Amino acid sequence: MSASTPGWAALPRFPLAVLPTPLVRAHRLEAALGCGPLLVKRDDLIGFGVAGNKARPLEYLMGAAREQGAEVFVTGGGPGSNFCAAAAQAARVAGLECELMVWGDPAGAPNLALAAAAGARLVPTGGEVREAVDEMVAARAEELAASGRRAFAVPRGGSTGLGAVGFAAAAAELAAQLTDLNPAARPALIVFPIGSGGSSAGLLAGLAAVGLDIPVLGVSVSRPPAEIGPRVHELARACAQLLGTPVPRPEQLELLDARGPGFGVASQIERERARLVLHTEGLLLDETYGAEALSAAVDRLLGDPPGPVLWWHTGGLIPAVSTIMKGTR
Ligand SMILES: Cc1ncc(COP(=O)(O)O)c(C=O)c1O
Repeated sequence: MSASTPGWAALPRFPLAVLPTPLVRAHRLEAALGCGPLLVKRDDLIGFGVAGNKARPLEYLMGAAREQGAEVFVTGGGPGSNFCAAAAQAARVAGLECELMVWGDPAGAPNLALAAAAGARLVPTGGEVREAVDEMVAARAEELAASGRRAFAVPRGGSTGLGAVGFAAAAAELAAQLTDLNPAARPALIVFPIGSGGSSAGLLAGLAAVGLDIPVLGVSVSRPPAEIGPRVHELARACAQLLGTPVPRPEQLELLDARGPGFGVASQIERERARLVLHTEGLLLDETYGAEALSAAVDRLLGDPPGPVLWWHTGGLIPAVSTIMKGTR
């Protein structure tokens, strides 16, 4: 990859996000914890609906869908899926129809209400098995093709090699922001929440592409490290191949099993820290990704040797507000 023309610049992109997202110091949180520096990459402020990190893959997925002349964007997820809401909104503004295969009970789920408000058709899988979504997405895309409609099918989370390109570009965005930073605050570690794996995979591919050798702590919230690790590396490889950039070193990623009490349920300490971030920095954290990742970042900040740490705030604002409304935080 040449420095002047990064691989992602050659791919079709449908702009959604307001970039770069800010990179800020959490001074008040640092003071409350008695440690630091803690940098926060504010993808919660990404500027497209409440899409958070998922606006980034959607720019490239929607760009490809439009270039291929697709009429229907087919994907899916669960009742709490930020990706479903973001995909529905992105499809709407890009001029595509959207169909979402949804596991679990969609009734009363705010993210799915947002998707429906954007005009998406919700199709329940009729069960709680998450993998059924990807099977139904593929089947529905075939059905649409058989009826003469052009579909663009994407698995849960938008996690494909192409979707990961959004975060490869984000790594270059971060690299540019770090050059302006006081060297003492340069992060020794990036802490990032992992669900389906596409975002962290893209980040790793992008760090390798721009030659930024900062280790990444991936906080896995839904799968054990032995399962998610190979998946992230495979997606990172696919992304790097697509971009013609170096394949990231597997050792750059350390994985933390943060499944805790269950998917979407934070532990007591994670909740307390999420409340501390709300009270010191005014940041809203969901209990699926944000509270877990922030808590892992705090553990490292307080660890030996201590910080400096960059925590990637990936959004999750709708579930964060829902949690607060339920009165559990
Ligand atoms: C708020 C938030 N953070 C992090 C993630 C994890 O991203 P990925 O699924 O690409 O691993 C997601 C996934 O939906 C998310 O919604």
